[in-house]
Amino acid sequence: MSKKQKVSAKTRPPLKWAGGKFRIVDEICRLLPKGKRLIEPFVGSGAVFLNTDFEQYVISDINYDLILFYRILKKEQKKFISNAKRLFTSRNNNAESYYRLRKEFNTTTNPLRKATLFLYLNKHGYNGLCRYNAAGEMNVPFGRYKKPYFPERELLAFIEKAERVSIKHEDFAKAMRSAHIGDVIYCDPPYVPLSDTSNFTTYSAGGFSRSDQQRLADIAEETAKRGIPVLISNHYTSDTSRMYRAAKAAKLESLNVRRLISCNSSKRENAREVLALFCPKS
Ligand SMILES: C[S@@+](CC[C@H](N)C(=O)[O-])C[C@H]1O[C@@H](n2cnc3c(N)ncnc32)[C@H](O)[C@@H]1O
Repeated sequence: MSKKQKVSAKTRPPLKWAGGKFRIVDEICRLLPKGKRLIEPFVGSGAVFLNTDFEQYVISDINYDLILFYRILKKEQKKFISNAKRLFTSRNNNAESYYRLRKEFNTTTNPLRKATLFLYLNKHGYNGLCRYNAAGEMNVPFGRYKKPYFPERELLAFIEKAERVSIKHEDFAKAMRSAHIGDVIYCDPPYVPLSDTSNFTTYSAGGFSRSDQQRLADIAEETAKRGIPVLISNHYTSDTSRMYRAAKAAKLESLNVRRLISCNSSKRENAREVLALFCPKS
């Protein structure tokens, strides 16, 4: 990380994203080791990418539509912004238009159109969810927001850093195994469930299982042994604590995070988040 690591005012991501880390980005940055290049294998809305100052970045995710959005934003820049802005009108903010545009998103083969519609759906759909049916079609219902926000400033903040970022569509294991000395990895996988009865959060078709969580912890340990530090965030549960503590190289910190407990209410409760840093032996 360069000396002027912290960006003074925090940059909000352009997308709403389940499990987005904007609110705890300061704590994450405090624990991120120095390095030349940051690799984010579960990039989501990119809160950490946008609020750090590494020389180079690799961002990746398993969600193809999300990666297409970033690639087209990087390639088309102002053209993306002007095309996307045209979708944010009061005429397009009703159920009929929303479902027509959602259908277009699911069928278009034009990458620029698809990427701008992805942003439209993210801001006009229910709770900023990104959810698919068994056929792989986006099926989030209309969100009924008064005036969805067009994130121009946030898109520009991404564009400003775009030169430094390489964008990949791949599984986290591939992204982590491509790391070399001088890299730092930040992993923000889908959360483990808070209780045994709750389901694992599904972000893209297929979900993220208990064995994926274990696979991540194992690869983090293996990567630290190769001399590359890895920071993982997750819910602090007996399961994650056991899984990460099993690695001798991992140091755990926990923090309290206020989080929304129900989509229909504004009620918040405290949940504990764990930050596990897998350090190479010095
Ligand atoms: C908690 S979110 C990341 C949030 C992000 N840190 C932010 O601030 O918005 C988890 C991400 O992991 C991605 N994901 C799920 N399974 C994956 C896998 N096997 N490999 C890579 N990414 C995966 C999801 O698509 C989702 O974007």
